[in-house]
This record gives sequence, structure tokens and C-alpha cells, in this order.
Amino acid sequence: MTTDLFSPISLGSISLKSRIVMAPLTRNRAGAGNVPQDINVKYYEQRASAGLIITEATPISAMAHGYPATPGIHSEAQVAGWKKVVDAVHAKGGKIVLQLWHVGRISHPSLLPDNALPVAPSAIKPAGQAFTYIGLQDFVTPRALELNELPGIVEDYAQATRNALAAGFDGVEIHAANGYLLDQFLRDSTNQRKDQYGGSIENRTRLLLEVTRAVVDVAGADKVGVRISPLNPFNDIADSNPQALFNHVADALNPFKLAYLHVVEGGMGGSDLPPFDFLDLRKHFKGAYMANLGYTKATANAAIAEGRADVVAFGVPFIANPDLVERFRLDAPLNEADQSSFYGGNETGYIDYPTLQG
Ligand code: PHB
Repeated sequence: MTTDLFSPISLGSISLKSRIVMAPLTRNRAGAGNVPQDINVKYYEQRASAGLIITEATPISAMAHGYPATPGIHSEAQVAGWKKVVDAVHAKGGKIVLQLWHVGRISHPSLLPDNALPVAPSAIKPAGQAFTYIGLQDFVTPRALELNELPGIVEDYAQATRNALAAGFDGVEIHAANGYLLDQFLRDSTNQRKDQYGGSIENRTRLLLEVTRAVVDVAGADKVGVRISPLNPFNDIADSNPQALFNHVADALNPFKLAYLHVVEGGMGGSDLPPFDFLDLRKHFKGAYMANLGYTKATANAAIAEGRADVVAFGVPFIANPDLVERFRLDAPLNEADQSSFYGGNETGYIDYPTLQG
């Protein structure tokens, strides 16, 4: 039998019924205190037939927030809220990991404790605007983290991992993609540090490896994935040599024996991207490879059959199709996603997409 999206697989200690993964999706619908609430429970429960759900990006500390209504994992109430999500997904036979997020400079003082400046590897202002509770605001110049603050950031990841395990999650994914804090350290357009966390590729990878060590020490490597996006220019980020950088990241992650590496294989939003060989990256990483970005059932099955990916994460299709797995199984038509309700709002465009059953 050929291996395809419906072939079971284990990612570390997490056994999946299928290779159809729900990608992390920011939806900005947390309750007061950035606590997961009932509609969030319903949303994830509706999608529990995925082989694995990766939660929306979840801030690990008060300083890690960069958008309104994103559910955190740093207060007791948030852990209790997430526990309801996890319990509902498990009751339906699903698996779910939490994505650990620090936005770094992609924030705004109005979203941070005491109107603090966002933090980053270097004091370089991103182009563009932040989404805040008071509308779109120009990004500000962030504050460069002091060397002696980095252990505290690493500890925030460790504590968030303890919290995720307390909520019952099957594992965690370290978000090192899409122009947020760990990606800001990795790429040389945003990291111009002169200390051992900047300069060479080895130095720029250091914080990710320290975070991975800390998270693995808490959860065990077989419950930990890492997400990267070697080409994504989203959030005004770039690197002078992404192939060398991310091949090194893959090599350096190998000794941990992680559950998986999750790769955003392009850019969110159209723009000219530098050449990049994802198959070469895939060969550098010795564990399970999760591919993401614009896959269809057909292209995902081809990637799996040809060994270019072990599992595939689907984003927008899961927004609009809670029963995406069943639709793929039956080759049924997919609902179209309504972009206007992706970010923020209420039940509409969130928990009201019809299944095949109605
Ligand atoms: C977003 O809120 O637009 C967002 C969040 C996390 C990502 C990508 C996009 O990784």
C-alpha cells in the first residue's frame, strides 16, 4: 500500500490517525485576560478529527503578546481555559499540541505591561503597523534585550511548557518562524548583535537551541516540535543566506531527536523570494518533516509519496472545513473560507462553518 495522508504515523510519542495536521492559526477570539473561552473550546473540538491540531500561536509571557485577544499560557486562568480545549479534543479522540510564541518586536506598548517597549535582538523598527485594541498603530523601535535577560526568556519558554503539560497537551511546538522573536534572532536583517547571540550563523541559532534544550528538558524531546519559515518575509524580516542558516538549524536540532520539524515552505503574501531548496533542508533534518503552505490533498499526497514530507499541515482549509479529514476521504467539495472573519469577532466565521452532515 502506498503511504498517503491517511497512513497513521507517530511524531515522537504522539500517535496520529492520519497525516492531516491542522496548522497553527491566529483567530483573536480569546476571552478577558486572554483566557480561552467556550467558543474556543467548540472551535477546536469541531476540528478534533485532524491527525494532529497545532493550536494558534500562544504567548508564553505577558511580554510575548503582540495582538489583541490571543490566548496566553502564562496565567492559571489561561491554563484552566486551555485544559477545557484539550479535554474536548481528547474526548473526540484527537491529539493537540500548543504552539509556544513570543512575538518580540512585532508588538506595541499598548499591548504590553506598563506600556513597555517591545523587546528584540536589536533595536530595529519593523516596517508596518501593529494590530492593537486602539486600531492600527505604527510599529515602534524595540528595545534590544540585554545579555543577562536571555536566561529569563528561556525560562519563560520552560514555564510555558510546564503550563501546557499541566493543561494536558500532547506536546508543544516552538514557534521559530514568521518574523517573531526566535526568528528575529535567527535572521541577520533583525539580529545585529555583537555578543555571542549575533553575527555568525552559529551565534544567531544559539537562542533557539537554548530554548529547545529548556523545553525538551521539561517535556521530553518526543513531545516537542519546532516551526521555521526560511523564506517568509512576513513581519519585515530577511536573511542574506537562508539556505546556509536553515540547513544549520536543521543540523543543530538533530541531536535533540525532536518529534518533528515544521517548515513553512514559502512566503505569506506575494513577493519575490530568494531561491531555496526545501528538499535539501529536509535531507539535513533526520526526524519527521511537516510541510506547510498552500498544499491541497493532491499535492500533499504527492509530497508524502515522494518522501518530501512525512505529514502536511493545512491552515485555511481547516478554518472553513471542520471536517476536512472526512472531506478529503470522500473527495467532497470544500467550503470557501471568508477572509473577513479570520481575525477577531465572534462565532461568525469561526464555529459556524457547515460539515458535510450540515
Ligand atoms: C498573525 O497574527 O497574523 C500571525 C500570527 C502568527 C503567525 C503568523 C501570523 O505565525
